[in-house]
Amino acid sequence: MPETLTITDNRTGKSYEISIADGTIRASDLRQIKVDANDFGLMSYDPAFMNTASCKSSITYLDGDAGILRYRGYPIEQLAEQSTYLEVAYLLLHGELPNQTELAAWQHSITTHTFVHEFLKRALEGYRYDAHPMGRLVAFLATLSTFYTDAKRVREPEIRMQHVVRIIAKMPTIAAWAFRHSLGRPYVYPNNDLGYCGNFLAMLFQIAEPKYKVNPVLERALDVLFILHADHEQNCSTSAARGVGSAESDPYVALAAASAALYGPLHGGANEAVLRMLKKIGSVKEIPAFIESVKHGDGKLMGFGHRVYKNYDPRAKVIKKLADDVFEVTGRNPLLDIALELEKIALSDEYFIKRKLYPNVDFYSGLIYQAMGFPVEMFPVLFAIPRASGWLSQWSEMLDDPEQKISRPRQIYTGTDVRNYVPIAKR
Ligand code: CMC
Repeated sequence: MPETLTITDNRTGKSYEISIADGTIRASDLRQIKVDANDFGLMSYDPAFMNTASCKSSITYLDGDAGILRYRGYPIEQLAEQSTYLEVAYLLLHGELPNQTELAAWQHSITTHTFVHEFLKRALEGYRYDAHPMGRLVAFLATLSTFYTDAKRVREPEIRMQHVVRIIAKMPTIAAWAFRHSLGRPYVYPNNDLGYCGNFLAMLFQIAEPKYKVNPVLERALDVLFILHADHEQNCSTSAARGVGSAESDPYVALAAASAALYGPLHGGANEAVLRMLKKIGSVKEIPAFIESVKHGDGKLMGFGHRVYKNYDPRAKVIKKLADDVFEVTGRNPLLDIALELEKIALSDEYFIKRKLYPNVDFYSGLIYQAMGFPVEMFPVLFAIPRASGWLSQWSEMLDDPEQKISRPRQIYTGTDVRNYVPIAKR
């Protein structure tokens, strides 16, 4: 079977044969299709990238119809069950699981880069107590760029990796300090004796105890949530990281841009929006009226629907199970009953069935975060911390891809044709 596509341009009667590779045609092959020599050539128009692959990637495989998610070939369910977040971060970045020596070295370098410059602490103090922690995260990442002037040398693999380590290591520190600042609590410095998530929990919640005792169930739950959030191929924030990084900006500002994208309620901010929605619904008996209002276009059922998943999000399945372990320690989140009933009603309702709207990763994660003591504003930050490893893997892959260039979409100009400037007195 020839792997080509024949296109006949009915404007000119000419036919063109275009190659197909990986089920894809190259949009630039369309440029040869012209009505005359002065014609720019045919372009494809694809607002919101509904059907356009922007890159080749070997990091994450996602089959939205089948509800499959794999990192470097490993099913997300196996990683959530058996791996750790730091091991997964290594896998995403390097393509293979580490052996024992590699993992020990990786954990050591992350652990020894968790401290941040004292100046950043002072910068934190400039924020109001109620500043959203995502806004602060965006700013801190950009601020870190000013500390590491060599981070711009993105083409030098060793330097690149140094900054990758720094970012993954420092994300929990800056997130925890943003949280402490909101509460007016003194900042807790990283503790190198603790693991990645244990250290994060200590920096968040330690008060006067000389050694914070991390609850192993909560530490593991956070680690699993971090694994589930580590990468999700070419979503809005990853595309932002790749887009900004394609200008060879340093990784700190590329990740500041990615975090800014993640902040939005249609993306990583959805977990926060779900909790606010569940609170607003208030009780199980209000659910039918709420569902009706959504169907009439009055807002969305937050935590439902996905651009790619047209099936149950496999991450949501793992999180739903994880919630039971967490609630055994923290006590049951009373909003869980509303969420469960909401899911049950939505999944049997024609409106949601027809549109293939299922719970996504954000539907249940917020319930766990809230039970663990996080305020809703921190939820997107908890998404951003592990996603940093995915963003950095994707950013690095983009830099090494010889087919990639500075990201620069085309447009269809719909404005006025040329006209002469009119001096203000004559307008
Ligand atoms: N509640 C009600 N209706 C919905 C929802 C929803 N959550 N999501 C989509 N629809 C409807 C939408 O109105 C449209 O209906 P119609 O065909 O009658 O116009 C249809 O379903 C198709 O939706 P779409 O807006 O074309 O889908 P999209 O791919 O552009 O949007 C989405 C995907 C995730 C932005 C959207 O489903 C949404 O806003 N969901 C709620 C926010 C959310 O939970 N976001 C987290 C996504 S997962 C984590 C992440 O990526 O960060």
